[in-house]
Amino acid sequence: MLFEPLSFGTLRLKNRIMMAPMATSFAQNDGLPQPEHLIHYASRALGQAGLIMLESTAISPSGRSVSHNLGLWNDAQKQGLRQINDTLHRLGSKTGIQLWHSGRKKENETTGETVLSASGLPFERRPRQAMNREQIANVVTEFKKAAHRAKEADFDVIEIHAAHGFLINEFLSPITNRREDEYGGGRRNRYRLLGEIVDAVKQVWTGPLFVRISAEEYHPEGNHVEDHVQYARWMKAQGVDLIHCSSGGILPEAPPVYPGYQVPYAERIRLAANIATAAVGLIETGKQAEEILRNGRADLIAIGRPLLRNPFWVAEAARDLQVELDAPRVYRPYWKQG
Ligand SMILES: Cc1cc2nc3c(=O)[nH]c(=O)nc-3n(C[C@H](O)[C@H](O)[C@H](O)COP(=O)(O)O)c2cc1C
Repeated sequence: MLFEPLSFGTLRLKNRIMMAPMATSFAQNDGLPQPEHLIHYASRALGQAGLIMLESTAISPSGRSVSHNLGLWNDAQKQGLRQINDTLHRLGSKTGIQLWHSGRKKENETTGETVLSASGLPFERRPRQAMNREQIANVVTEFKKAAHRAKEADFDVIEIHAAHGFLINEFLSPITNRREDEYGGGRRNRYRLLGEIVDAVKQVWTGPLFVRISAEEYHPEGNHVEDHVQYARWMKAQGVDLIHCSSGGILPEAPPVYPGYQVPYAERIRLAANIATAAVGLIETGKQAEEILRNGRADLIAIGRPLLRNPFWVAEAARDLQVELDAPRVYRPYWKQG
């Protein structure tokens, strides 16, 4: 199944391998894509990843974690990303962009800068400000504007980053959301910001929409997979196509990890909320990926570090599964190039 196509509406992925979003730090202070981005992503497109999810990309300058994060808040950034997309598309991959606001986890704020967060809890002893309604409405609008630019930049998929303790996750999590207004309290209220962002994005975006979540927060008071089953049902009702099931990041402690440690979350959400899921995390071989797909535990397999180590990991997985992979045209023997 790993090498069978997967469709979302009119979008057809040639296989079920997605390059996981991974921050590169190649951008400069202006958030513009650099030649290094093109080389980095095009290598994985030559390597035949079906979907390349570009790294966490800030929706606004203040949504960055560090000054060299990629951004999509202006037209120059859009143009740069469009050029990357042109190349990746010519190489046969589909592309996605992960839209993101760092929230309280901002790393290198300038002195005196206001750092927005759900509840104003200090982060690593640095002050944070609870967002007021106007600031919340602004962030929703910035997600919508970035989604519109993503469309103009010719992306095939948008992924909203609602995982790893960043702004949207902060609102979802009872650990970091101590608000007393309609954005805090029970699940419905904690979900409100994500729900508003999904609705706003869908006003300008008709393509496949993914949302990345932290399905387990590794603390008794945090979100667990059953909370996310409920969120996923709401997302499905709003037209989200796939839940990308990661975990952790609200708390600094690293969870215990082992091969496929997050796969049970993708499986549970897929079955209970009846929505497509992507599995990610220490999936290292073609056979392991095939097991997940064949046993109905996920629809798409996201590969992170193995694709950093080896841009041609997809060929390795094909060998593992004894699948003959069509080489990109340029690499075929000349008599097969027609
Ligand atoms: C260098 C690096 C950068 C990452 N940046 C992001 C990111 O921008 N957005 C995100 O959601 N996850 C990010 N992640 C997490 C990966 O997407 C993935 O979930 C994680 O590496 C586990 O998958 P793996 O075992 O296949 O690497 C990053 C991981 C690495 C190693």
